[in-house]
Amino acid sequence: MNEQNLKAIFFSATDTTRRCVEMIAQAMDMPLTVSVNLADRNVKLPELNDNDIVIVAAPVYGGRIPTLAADKLKYLNGNGAKVIAMVVYGNRDYDDALLELTDILTETGCKICAAAAFIGQHSIFPKVGTSRPDKADLEKLAEFGRQCKATLVSDIAKTDLSIKGNRPYKKYGGVPVHPVGSRKDCHKCGVCAEKCPVEAISIEAPWETDAQKCISCGRCIFVCSSGSRGYNGIKYNLIGKVFVAGFSHRKEPEIFI
Ligand SMILES: Cc1cc2nc3c(=O)[nH]c(=O)nc-3n(C[C@H](O)[C@H](O)[C@H](O)COP(=O)(O)O)c2cc1C
Ligand code: SF4
Ligand code: SF4
Repeated sequence: MNEQNLKAIFFSATDTTRRCVEMIAQAMDMPLTVSVNLADRNVKLPELNDNDIVIVAAPVYGGRIPTLAADKLKYLNGNGAKVIAMVVYGNRDYDDALLELTDILTETGCKICAAAAFIGQHSIFPKVGTSRPDKADLEKLAEFGRQCKATLVSDIAKTDLSIKGNRPYKKYGGVPVHPVGSRKDCHKCGVCAEKCPVEAISIEAPWETDAQKCISCGRCIFVCSSGSRGYNGIKYNLIGKVFVAGFSHRKEPEIFI
């Protein structure tokens, strides 16, 4: 058998999905030869072939994978690459996101050999799923990585996995809240404008947000060293209260292998 390469393609705005991907790669004890974050602008999709094992991962947005990630993944040429598909969600639900991700990847010619849904801190309401993935999640991610290595590298993985979810997929309704900045605290470094996946922030006025473009991914908050961007306002606080009350009961990771 030819030497196999481990690659990663993921969407991660606030780094939770990326950390989960890297935990799996570490447990597989194989170097990541390619690591592409689809939340970055102007990224190039890697070439794939049937010697590749690829971890493809996305966070859950409204029970789906982010539209931006789905639109980019559709251009992948799978060429028989073996895929570990994963979604990371903020302890509410992953609904149809994992099914959507595996459907897209199958359509591009990838072979889905393993799939999982893990939990991360909610990037809009951090009081839900707080500090996840935690120690128990990291152990499960590592165990999943070892299982993947055992079956994928020796080519004994099943490819007829029964993934949870429904078709047609849940309709994505969008998020009615967007982060804004404080003009007083902003030192105009431009990092948020550069890192916003959809160019919803201008270099000239980084404390403002174009709500028509913003996908509420939270990346601008995550990258701002002055802590000057964030969610606030009556609407955010009201939705947050209901959300925390409804979705704080701990969910556990699910694995399909
Ligand atoms: C726009 C948006 C919608 C989200 N929708 C859901 C959801 O439907 N269910 C859920 O459990 N978490 C949801 N989340 C939480 C994210 O899935 C979770 O925080 C994830 O870990 C973020 O990944 P990242 O840090 O890699 O960007 C949503 C987050 C955002 C920003
Ligand atoms: S402005 Fe919106 S889309 Fe841009 S990084 Fe911030 S939350 Fe994400
Ligand atoms: S990253 Fe923060 S400090 Fe830098 S321009 Fe954006 S809001 Fe201002």
